Amino acid sequence: MSRRGVTPRSTQVAIIGAGPAGLLLSSLLAREGIDSVVVEKESREHVQGRIRAGLLEWTTVELLREAGISERAMREGLIHDGFDVAFAGGHHRVDLKALTGKTMLVYGQNELQKDLAEARCEPGAVLWQVRDVTLHDWENGTPRVSYTHAGSRHELRCDFLAGCDGYHGVSRAGVPRQRITQYERVYPFGWLGLLADVPPLHEELVYANHERGFALCSMRSRDRSRYYVQCSLEDKVEEWPDARFWDELRLRLPERYGARLVTGRSLEKSIVPLRSLVTEPMRFGRLFLVGDAAHIVPPTGAKGLNLAAADVRVLSRGLIEFYRSRSATLLEEYSTRALSRVWKATRFSWWFTLLMHRISADPFARRMQSAELEYLARSAAACRSLAENYVGLSFEEL
Ligand code: FAD
Ligand code: PHB
Repeated sequence: MSRRGVTPRSTQVAIIGAGPAGLLLSSLLAREGIDSVVVEKESREHVQGRIRAGLLEWTTVELLREAGISERAMREGLIHDGFDVAFAGGHHRVDLKALTGKTMLVYGQNELQKDLAEARCEPGAVLWQVRDVTLHDWENGTPRVSYTHAGSRHELRCDFLAGCDGYHGVSRAGVPRQRITQYERVYPFGWLGLLADVPPLHEELVYANHERGFALCSMRSRDRSRYYVQCSLEDKVEEWPDARFWDELRLRLPERYGARLVTGRSLEKSIVPLRSLVTEPMRFGRLFLVGDAAHIVPPTGAKGLNLAAADVRVLSRGLIEFYRSRSATLLEEYSTRALSRVWKATRFSWWFTLLMHRISADPFARRMQSAELEYLARSAAACRSLAENYVGLSFEEL
């Protein structure tokens, strides 16, 4: 115990947040013998219970494999070769495999969180339920993170800080305003999501554009479905009993899909607002912002978790190079490299969101959407562009 009642400790990389970004980074570093400590404000159970993303790009799966964490995802995940875009009472299949040679993996983020936490379960690797996390001296000198854990105050000295603490975290918030530029778009609607133990509507995902609003039929397994409907930002979950949700979803689907929708009791229901946010730069001295701490995309393009994994890949390469050869070249390039992918995914998620949602009652805007959806269904080039963006860039393509 030091003079001020603070217990000092040190590590090479201090990681704030045990979401997918923080835990994956910690695993990749551990495989190279680089020491890290993850500090997380919530409990392990809480993090593993959060129902969020469901769709992994193949590059993300490859990164999980590299970290030694892909085994259960490969065994239990569902490989998807395509998805449906439904509009004007019909639907068009986007054949991802034929158009890009790539597929996607349906695997719940909460399952992934379990695998990631299991891989870092040795004592002291992840500190759960930590309070009052504060970052110090990341600009000059030795970075430190102070926090309260199990009732006492601690200090962790490190070489680098990785801010993997999501949109509401302290890492981005602690950077002085004049050092950071944020580009933001808030969309005037949200998504109401429902999870239920019912067989999925269709063997692939269905994204539906309807004049009542957007709907998405996704899944977690062959007997667990995840559905979303566009809702108002003012809506409360309590205003959406299950029966209202199912009725609304059915109305937004082509008749032949709606007719075979199997309904059931919800296991979870929640509303998320939609926003795009990009923070520039993503590196401040020895502090690196990673994943949702640096950028948010609306979930329409299924890019958030995949972007977080891509940031982790770039940062882990930089840290590994630094500890192997003391070269900081890749670390210095972190922000530029990560942002190049981030902006591409931001553009795609923004475009797909505007194409699929009811934005306003403006008849001209509605006609433009219809014309673009028709074009998508008729033009192989337009469909390939959608498919290429959806499956994401491979690491070599950046
Ligand atoms: P987070 O998962 O937010 O993790 C941050 C962690 O930091 C959390 O555990 C948090 O508790 C912790 N933390 C916060 N503040 C502090 C603090 N002060 N001190 C310590 N710890 C702190 N993405 C996809 O790729 N595909 C999809 O299909 C998809 N669907 C989605 C559907 C929905 C409904 C939503 C909401 C999101 C979806 N996403 C999707 C986005 C995806 O869930 C996120 O992009 C992803 O969780 C980002 O991971 P992260 O580790 O960067 O941040
Ligand atoms: C999900 O299954 O939660 C999911 C799938 C695709 C998306 C967004 C969410 O675009």
